[in-house]
Amino acid sequence: MSFLEIKDLSYRFEDGTEALDGVTISVEKGEFAGLLASNGGGKTTLLRSIVGLLKSKPGSILIDKKPLDKMGRTGLSSKIGLVFQNPSDQLFASTVEEDVEFGPRNLGLSEGEITERVKSSLELVDLMSCAKKPIHHLSFGQQKRACIAGVLAMRPEILLLDEPTAGLDPKSESKLLYVLGRLNKEAGITIIIATHMVDLMPLFVDRIYVLKEGKLAIKGTPEVVFSSTQVMEGVDLRLPYITHLIEELKHKDHLPLDELPLTIKDARSKLVSLIPQNILTVKESIRLS
Ligand SMILES: Nc1ncnc2c1ncn2[C@@H]1O[C@H](COP(=O)(O)OP(=O)(O)O)[C@@H](O)[C@H]1O
Ligand SMILES: [Mg+2]
Repeated sequence: MSFLEIKDLSYRFEDGTEALDGVTISVEKGEFAGLLASNGGGKTTLLRSIVGLLKSKPGSILIDKKPLDKMGRTGLSSKIGLVFQNPSDQLFASTVEEDVEFGPRNLGLSEGEITERVKSSLELVDLMSCAKKPIHHLSFGQQKRACIAGVLAMRPEILLLDEPTAGLDPKSESKLLYVLGRLNKEAGITIIIATHMVDLMPLFVDRIYVLKEGKLAIKGTPEVVFSSTQVMEGVDLRLPYITHLIEELKHKDHLPLDELPLTIKDARSKLVSLIPQNILTVKESIRLS
């Protein structure tokens, strides 16, 4: 059995909107998973269900073999934590440090343990230098990382993030992805991020789960998902730009490319392998003309 098992999960809002419809997903311990869908696909509803903020059918979510509905609040928050999309929904204390210590203090931990957790969480997200700062003095990227620190202070084994890179500039986005990569690879935290940003996926996720209108449309490694070009069109998502370019070169310009590269690095090595032949052709035509 996988670390996180979601079995046939459905969710209907009071107004009748069927936000999730029979979703089955298993995430392994240590996996970095991406939940990919266009707006309204059900990402937020799924993440909120996984942390028990929305009531699901008994037994449809199991964390470490235990049904979610059988776990108390405290048990749950030390297993799994959700970082909301909007920092203003999550941060409420005056300073960074006060915000991060709120969770551990609620657990009734000793002052020493609280201090240690605040320090290690802020270090993990590279925000130690901002510990004493008022929340409203932080940049948006720093606020996002402060939210992550607050969740990490509960020492969860699974970290869920709702649209973590939304609204970030390129530098803050790289910084956040670096922090998440480190949490996954070095601290061994299982991570699931919900996003519609296809270009980011191949850079760091192990597996992708694609939702469309609350249903799981396809799952697999980035290679499998993004090679399924027709499925991707059907779920209102495009391919990563680099994959799209290579697909055009393959089909419209007939370049001999078999697999579709997903990253600039892969694409570069594939294209470079074709260059000597092209250069020769160009040289030849110059000589002939
Ligand atoms: N509180 C709500 N009441 C009714 N419908 C909702 C509510 N929240 C979300 N929805 C609907 O549920 C579906 C899934 O929404 P959501 O999970 O927010 O998608 P995503 O996060 O992928 O954009 C959408 O059709 C959305 O309009
Ligand atoms: Mg959402």
